[in-house]
Amino acid sequence: MVEQSALQLAEYANLIMKRIAIFASGNGSNAENIIRYFRENPRNAEVALVVCNKPDAMVLERASKLGVDTAVMTRADINDPEKMLKLMDQYEIYSIALAGFLLMVPSFLIERYEGRIVNIHPSLLPKYGGKGMYGKHIHEAVVAAGEKETGITVHFVSEDCDGGDIIFQKSIPVEATDTPADVEEKIHALEKEHYPRIIGETIVGTH
Ligand code: GRF
Repeated sequence: MVEQSALQLAEYANLIMKRIAIFASGNGSNAENIIRYFRENPRNAEVALVVCNKPDAMVLERASKLGVDTAVMTRADINDPEKMLKLMDQYEIYSIALAGFLLMVPSFLIERYEGRIVNIHPSLLPKYGGKGMYGKHIHEAVVAAGEKETGITVHFVSEDCDGGDIIFQKSIPVEATDTPADVEEKIHALEKEHYPRIIGETIVGTH
């Protein structure tokens, strides 16, 4: 009892290093930015692990170059509570940030990390969200629809695809001459500027 109070107090006082796991499936530019952000800013949080479901994804190379441990987990592994919870425990993971992770997160992880698991989506949700809306498909749809603005959304992860409570949104204009690739570039810049900070403020609580 006494021990638990001491632990809680330390946590409130931000004395404990909070360990983040990033889940990603692809390129990993967001993952790299998050890793660097928590390294470069002296805070009591760090990225301890990158979980990836694609053995050849660039994110694995990026993480390894930065000295962050990686775990390649198949879809079946990710849906296996015994395997996943063991991995999370082994790395003492406090919170999870999805960054271009293309699988649904299993409910046992959502339950365990309630309020501490977030995703970034490259549109102004609820627009251009849901099944099939990922990566360049989103920016193509935005340009095809003649949208005047688009943006990013950081949200809690729930059982609904792109449907959890919204934490943060930031919009940018779409110019008439913008191609989907132009929009993607602007979105990446926006993600770099905001996502690591929002993770810090929201799920790690260190800011
Ligand atoms: C980002 O645009 C992110 O918003 C979305 O997937 C993309 C991943 O890009 N969820 P990267 O792998 O971080 O470069």
